[in-house]
Amino acid sequence: MPFLFTAEKKVQLLWCTITISMSLDTSAIRRQFPALQQQINGHPLVYLDSAATAQVPMAVLEAMSECERHDRGNPHRGMHVLAERATEKFESARKTVAEFIGAATHEIIFTRNATESLNIVAKSWGKQNVKKGDVVALTLLEHHSAIVPWLQHKEDIGIEIAWVGIDETGMPRMEELEELLKAGKTKMVCITGQSNVLGVRPPLKDIIKTAHASGALVTVDATQLIAHHPVDVADLDCDFLVFSGHKLYGPTGIGVLYGKRKLLEAMPPFLGGGGMIGNVTKTGFTAADIPQKFEAGTPPLAQAVGLAATIDWISQYPWKDIEAHETKLIRAAVTALADIPDLKFLPNFARDKVPQAGALLSGCISFIIRGSHPHDLTDVLGNRGICLRAGHHCCQPLHDHLNIPASTRVSVGIYNTEDEVTLLVRAIDEALKTLA
Ligand code: ALA
Repeated sequence: MPFLFTAEKKVQLLWCTITISMSLDTSAIRRQFPALQQQINGHPLVYLDSAATAQVPMAVLEAMSECERHDRGNPHRGMHVLAERATEKFESARKTVAEFIGAATHEIIFTRNATESLNIVAKSWGKQNVKKGDVVALTLLEHHSAIVPWLQHKEDIGIEIAWVGIDETGMPRMEELEELLKAGKTKMVCITGQSNVLGVRPPLKDIIKTAHASGALVTVDATQLIAHHPVDVADLDCDFLVFSGHKLYGPTGIGVLYGKRKLLEAMPPFLGGGGMIGNVTKTGFTAADIPQKFEAGTPPLAQAVGLAATIDWISQYPWKDIEAHETKLIRAAVTALADIPDLKFLPNFARDKVPQAGALLSGCISFIIRGSHPHDLTDVLGNRGICLRAGHHCCQPLHDHLNIPASTRVSVGIYNTEDEVTLLVRAIDEALKTLA
């Protein structure tokens, strides 16, 4: 007699499967993060600053420690066993990163951080391709590291920067971008994949398609997006994409620059030194092929190993579960924070227009509270173990546009809980009494 489930049992099992795939075991995840186990001044650590730097799980710490203890050599610079192991680990990490974002292995350049990656685009590609009078388009959502390298070109060679505004939900105004592109002078569009202040995710594919139709290239700053949503450069068809390890639960000191092969091959090296050359004479040099052409000096071996380990680690959790969990947290935060008198969310400051959590917000939410400076508030909360970021979050043009010098940001990661959101809101309530 075959084993058959009743219809009722089938529904139960289906529900169970849906429930399991819809929820992360946050307690089990938290146990993997040593930093989250500590107390600050007798209070449990409530870490709500992952948009600045995420914490690191044991799997990553162990992979880095193992590499430092057993496989420490200089990649691509020796024939002995440790150098060979180092080369193998470093290149294997590159392959892991490439597969993670749908790139070819030689299109992955290891850098120090996303800032360095963005500087390579501006200084190397820009040096060759952007001339006086050409336009680089930036949105008001961009981070200083996407802005300043192009401002330097503005000062040095007279390129123009065109700013694309945002609407009341914080999304870039597509009609402004389209209008700008029509003029045909824009060589590059820099766009964040997810704002580090507002949490909004611009429609990357539409932007890239529109830019390409007018002959402009697109650089995607995926520094925030990378920890919250799958990224596929082939599907996006972006020309460059950058991110850093430390926002992805990985090490500091490593970033990634993805570039389309033909672009990287045509670009001049960024830094000169060991490892990036083909041949050097007293009078000149030839550059190595990609990716080594952009990796002058001893590379960040343990950090690359750590980055690969963090990719392996996060890949065990389905993205849809991560996103569902974080959406739930942002929704809970928005709902609870909205009850605090005089608190107003960026970007529209309207109490009756609470940002549409879930639909548009990912990873973070920022606000101001009339009468309390963000630095004072986060200082008081920090003493109680609650970690938030205050300031302009390296997005001064956005804050200038909103007419505020600073805001307070709550950012969440895979390990945060709704209980932490409750602790946060209670602590803000109490802090406001002492700050009043
Ligand atoms: N870019 C980082 C942040 O948004 C440092 O906090």
